[in-house]
Amino acid sequence: MTASVAIGGLGVSRAAPARAGVAGDAVRCDGVSVRFTTERGTVTALDGVSLTIRAGSFLTLLGPSGCGKSTLLRVIADLVAPSAGGVAVLGDRPEVARRNRDIGFVFQDAALLPWRTALQNVTLPLEVGGSAARPGKRSPQDLLKLVGLGGWENAFPHELSGGMRQRVAIARALVSDPKLLLMDEPFGALDEITRDRLNEELLGVWESTGTTIVFVTHSIYEAVFLSQQVLVLAARPGRVRELVDIDLPLPRQLGMRETPEFVRLAGRLRQILETC
Ligand SMILES: Nc1ncnc2c1ncn2[C@@H]1O[C@H](COP(=O)(O)OP(=O)(O)O)[C@@H](O)[C@H]1O
Ligand SMILES: [Mg+2]
Repeated sequence: MTASVAIGGLGVSRAAPARAGVAGDAVRCDGVSVRFTTERGTVTALDGVSLTIRAGSFLTLLGPSGCGKSTLLRVIADLVAPSAGGVAVLGDRPEVARRNRDIGFVFQDAALLPWRTALQNVTLPLEVGGSAARPGKRSPQDLLKLVGLGGWENAFPHELSGGMRQRVAIARALVSDPKLLLMDEPFGALDEITRDRLNEELLGVWESTGTTIVFVTHSIYEAVFLSQQVLVLAARPGRVRELVDIDLPLPRQLGMRETPEFVRLAGRLRQILETC
């Protein structure tokens, strides 16, 4: 598994372990820049970002607030058009992947419809997608079980805790079997214990679905625990600082966070972040 990142104009290639049954590149960005023009002037949210994410891998974008993490996810999801540079998702234009329902998105706020049950929220994309709506291999009921909500199908959002609502949002994002799951600080609003539990569960979902995950956080520990690779971004303008391989073995358990290797990797990321 390789990922190459342009750092200060140099192409740097790194290797990460391949997973069985997945091949090819999920995402390629070549010199992606995004500029926003507002009444206060022009902001360069991303400046010449290049990266390759292999299919089936788990990559985290880590960086200070305003470094362009959300913008980069939105470019990949075809929600923001780059001002310069090229993007390929699953070997095609992001628009094609979006139309094919190959991209799932989970935000910090679960954004469930309050008048629909957990199950009805998960099935929603199948109802609103028109001809593009495509049920995946797993039924909505199975997806709720996969995220630990078996038995909660008929509960309404107000009956669920914040962590449970995020689980519903993850099940909903998986309903069309996306090849790429984009997650923008999905656990940022949760308490630490719930976040820990969801981190472990997310790795289980990743392993069992084989989907590629691009995850955004500003938590160093979350980044190390979850990822095969962490891409550190620097702010003003948003740009790639460094790609760090996380070569901790799989499966991961929370206890690993006390191991010397974990502590070393977290320390390394902290050092890099201090220069961002
Ligand atoms: N729609 C927008 N219009 C204007 N500026 C934006 C817009 N979206 C993001 N920005 C600016 O781009 C920069 C990167 O934002 P963002 O991608 O949200 O960063 P992050 O997710 O890392 O906190 C910030 O300076 C932000 O203010
Ligand atoms: Mg953001």
